[in-house]
Amino acid sequence: MTIAESSTFPLKFELTPSQAARDEAEREVILADPGFGKHFTDHMVKIDWTIEDGWHDAEVIPYGPLMLDPSAAVLHYAQEIFEGLKAYRHADGSIWTFRPGKNAERLQRSARRLALPELATEDFIESLKQLVAVDGSWVPSAPETSLYIRPFMIANESFLGVRPSQRVAYYVIASPAGAYFHGGVAPVSIWLSTEYSRAGRGGTGAAKCGGNYAASLLPQQEAYENGCAQVLFLDGETGRHIDELGGMNIFFVHDGGTKLVTPRLTGTILEGITRDSIIQLAKDRGMTVQERDVTVEEWRQGVADGSITEVFACGTAAVITPISALKSVDGVIGDENAPAGELTMSIRQELTDIQYGRVADRHGWLTRLDA
Ligand code: PLP
Ligand code: COI
Repeated sequence: MTIAESSTFPLKFELTPSQAARDEAEREVILADPGFGKHFTDHMVKIDWTIEDGWHDAEVIPYGPLMLDPSAAVLHYAQEIFEGLKAYRHADGSIWTFRPGKNAERLQRSARRLALPELATEDFIESLKQLVAVDGSWVPSAPETSLYIRPFMIANESFLGVRPSQRVAYYVIASPAGAYFHGGVAPVSIWLSTEYSRAGRGGTGAAKCGGNYAASLLPQQEAYENGCAQVLFLDGETGRHIDELGGMNIFFVHDGGTKLVTPRLTGTILEGITRDSIIQLAKDRGMTVQERDVTVEEWRQGVADGSITEVFACGTAAVITPISALKSVDGVIGDENAPAGELTMSIRQELTDIQYGRVADRHGWLTRLDA
């Protein structure tokens, strides 16, 4: 199914206002301490798709439970994909998001891999604007806060045969967000999973589909039990190369802050938009950036000989989070009590300055959502 076939383009949205919207006082209590992914705004977007009619019935409706037949394909075969992006409130009150076209394209790639219909970029961006038009007051304004936006697509045909669903629904929900990790921007230790892989050759590693995250929960649990905030996966084929974390990409700072190294995109890693942006910002600074294979042994040696001075994780939810140490059954690499690295925090500052409109958007990465 191509984009042109699947969409009445561009879609027109109908609004049904919620009768149960929280008042300002209730909202302010939530926005004062939003946490991550705990509270949701008053509305959501829904767009239906059928094989006969393509995308249709685009609506903004009250946030609430979905009616799904128990035989809906998504419940059995996990035909589901999602995205994650944020709305940022700028000092003048306006609301912006970061590189949404990239999320739209990734959702289209995920859709192709999961045999779901593609949603056109313009419809994807319009769906975000429509939600923000009714729920804009849920975008917090305190430093480091944002509205996390979660578009997702599910197969909702009632059918137990194993084939692509002929009925699909796309939704957008939104959740006010503070820091993803409890400690805010404090460095975290991560856990190396030596038993489990996240993705294999030809699998769904580069798609943002729920099944990848289901498979990461057990190793993530192992990480928590070992005092770590995230799990690090090696490639499934050789078990030697570093792929990525459960929900983030990873970078290494080399040579006194003049070089950045990150695992290359092999088809098993999610193509992070934060990753791509960091590569650009580092190149703008004149740094050398290498996308290549990285082994745990290189990490161990680099820390020992001083050539690797900082390591950090990145993603929409995590922004840029310093990694102090890698723990595994074989011991610890790095120092769990190490402070955040200088370059890590400086790139983080630059990225968030762009996102929050504190410096010029020289790459044209921002899209206004409330106008
Ligand atoms: N890797 C995985 C597995 C993720 O879930 C995410 C988060 O979306 C990322 C990487 C980072 O991607 P992005 O920077 O586009 O949020
Ligand atoms: C994101 O960063 O948007 C993600 O989807 C990661 C998830 C683990 C919250």
